Amino acid sequence: MAPPEPLRLSFADGRGYGIHLGPLTGVPELMEEDASLRPGACLIVSDENVAKLFLSDLLVSLEVAGWTPRTRVLLPGEASKSLRTLSEIYDWALAPTDGQPPDRATPLLALGGGVVGDVAGYAAATLLRGIPLVHLPTSLLAQVDSAIGGKTGVNHSAGKNLIGAVHQPALVVADPATLATLPKREWWSGMAEVVKAALIADAAFFDWLEARWEAIDARSPEVVGEMVRRAAAIKVRVVEQDEFERGRRAILNFGHTFAHAIERATGYLVFTHGEAVALGMRAALHLSQTLSPAPELERAKRLVERISLPAPLDVPIEDLLVAMQADKKRARGRLRLVVLDEVGAARLADDISEDAILEAWQYVRGLPPA
Ligand SMILES: NC(=O)c1ccc[n+]([C@@H]2O[C@H](COP(=O)([O-])OP(=O)(O)OC[C@H]3O[C@@H](n4cnc5c(N)ncnc54)[C@H](O)[C@@H]3O)[C@@H](O)[C@H]2O)c1
Repeated sequence: MAPPEPLRLSFADGRGYGIHLGPLTGVPELMEEDASLRPGACLIVSDENVAKLFLSDLLVSLEVAGWTPRTRVLLPGEASKSLRTLSEIYDWALAPTDGQPPDRATPLLALGGGVVGDVAGYAAATLLRGIPLVHLPTSLLAQVDSAIGGKTGVNHSAGKNLIGAVHQPALVVADPATLATLPKREWWSGMAEVVKAALIADAAFFDWLEARWEAIDARSPEVVGEMVRRAAAIKVRVVEQDEFERGRRAILNFGHTFAHAIERATGYLVFTHGEAVALGMRAALHLSQTLSPAPELERAKRLVERISLPAPLDVPIEDLLVAMQADKKRARGRLRLVVLDEVGAARLADDISEDAILEAWQYVRGLPPA
């Protein structure tokens, strides 16, 4: 079977890059042919889980194509998205390869999930004021979301993702076959972002997901490949319209204001980000229903409620409301929420009443309205 046509992200000023779904062994050829990168030294950042599974084949194919790769393997997990890890990456990256220091044409390849992509991406944005970045996402969340659109960064003790830059990759190669080894919780965390993409922008994709939920649960390869492609295409379209999130790109945050509050109120310990997004979307859908009578929002709720969670949300509503204030402060006192008028049609709303927000939290907590 012929490989699917690559997606392409194209900005109005002519910049852009290919997003290819296919085997990682094809990376060297795509680096040369699609991203015009010439073989020489290259840097690879990965994490221990991913390196064990996919690094050696990638190294062999790069070496055969004439590249001289050097690899840095991080500890898996959010703790690696830190200034300390970043500083260690700088020390390692600035060391010479075969006596030659890196130059502005030396690419950095980020092989892993969103954590590796964000921290390695920020290193690429800042090393020598910017070196080419190649995203090789291996988690579902990274393939459909974090590897596309150029957001990079690390966490700070004052909050998540507070230090970062927009640095678009030169190339993205995502192999859906790598998702077979993804742990169950990580799979469902990524599914939250897939369902979100459908809800905000593509009603036909929502129907498609609903009809194939069993095959998705079984990670059937044909279904997974098409699903990744369709979800990634939605992210591409939104980012093309608004690279720096001055407006439309904010619809990608559907459910996220509620999710951030859940993550904060549970100390980032109970739920992954994707699981918090799944809960946040329940609240955002309930809120949308109070504004719009569209019957398919009820269907949307039912699908979102099929996203597997490790525990119920067992936090006092008061704590969730307080945690929500942090996002409000950062937005200069205005809580801007994403709501759906119908499936596939998202909009920003900053006139939501406190009562409607309280009711949405009550719904997610399974409590009757006060
Ligand atoms: N830049 C953006 O636009 C953007 C968007 C959304 C989220 N993010 C960030 O992404 C991060 C979350 O990303 P994530 O969910 O990919 O987490 P992650 O990178 O921690 O990966 C999840 C876990 O899965 C493992 N893993 C990855 N691929 C695997 C595979 N194929 N087989 C087996 N194990 C595998 C990893 O080692 C890790 O333990 C957060 O830091 C979040 O802030 C960034």
